Amino acid sequence: MPSDHRPRWVPEHVDIDVPSAARMYDYYLGGSHNFAADRELAEEYMRVLPDMPQIARAQRHVLRRAVRHLAASGVDQFLDLGSGIPTVGNVHEVAAAANPDARVVYVDADPVAVAHSFSLLADFPQAAVIQADLRRPGAILSHPELTRLIDLSRPVAVLMIAVLHFVADEDDPAAVVATYRDATAPGSYLAITHATSDYQPQLARRAEAVYTRASHQIHYRTKQQILDMLGGYELLEPGLVDMIHWRPDPDSGADPLGGDVTRYSGYAAVGMHR
Ligand SMILES: C[S@@+](CC[C@H](N)C(=O)[O-])C[C@H]1O[C@@H](n2cnc3c(N)ncnc32)[C@H](O)[C@@H]1O
Repeated sequence: MPSDHRPRWVPEHVDIDVPSAARMYDYYLGGSHNFAADRELAEEYMRVLPDMPQIARAQRHVLRRAVRHLAASGVDQFLDLGSGIPTVGNVHEVAAAANPDARVVYVDADPVAVAHSFSLLADFPQAAVIQADLRRPGAILSHPELTRLIDLSRPVAVLMIAVLHFVADEDDPAAVVATYRDATAPGSYLAITHATSDYQPQLARRAEAVYTRASHQIHYRTKQQILDMLGGYELLEPGLVDMIHWRPDPDSGADPLGGDVTRYSGYAAVGMHR
């Protein structure tokens, strides 16, 4: 497999011949922080799931709608787990539009995502990025950058957009979510999107097979399996729903997939714990 030339912004230890879930997502979103190996596997995935660019955009829209809603509700601290490679409408930008004092900590396992977030945030002292595995909450919750910016005794919005499906059953995603829940103050929130196998189970299995060659494997789940991860959270209306139905913007125009939820194959929810 041919490697791209190696741009200066790639951290030294990164093997650009291993497709990365973060850089593949950047490719679906039309970004330029990806390499030949990422694009090849992303193209293979899109042969299974041609709607992936629209799905990725829809998930970014959920992220923005959720952050806007939570910031308007008074939340001024955000912990974005699996934040990815920065793109249009990042959490600190959306949150700052509602509250200029909002603080944001980004966390991602991918070194390229972290390097880009780091350079983007150079002039933004109210946000930071941590390279870490979200399955190890202890290291994140006690990280000096987190404790510098986030006061865990006050409500925090924990964002897990398009990332819980990268946590395998063996890693007990419900327990991971519960650890963040228990570490955050009452009145804190969790926002998620998650890929589902409910509508097209065979296609979901084929899609999973493609990702076995990526840095992170994907796990499509049923609505009940996803609900089971949200224990202890009181879901805001309209609950765990098809992602395009989570508080859609009234002025967002025609849906690019004709509003066909089976093509999006993903759910969204925002919950609060008391
Ligand atoms: C599909 S992208 C979503 C990015 C972003 N949340 C968004 O909605 O645009 C998933 C991201 O989760 C990251 N990721 C996957 N597993 C992770 C883990 N265990 N810990 C931290 N980050 C993880 C990947 O590196 C990737 O950047």
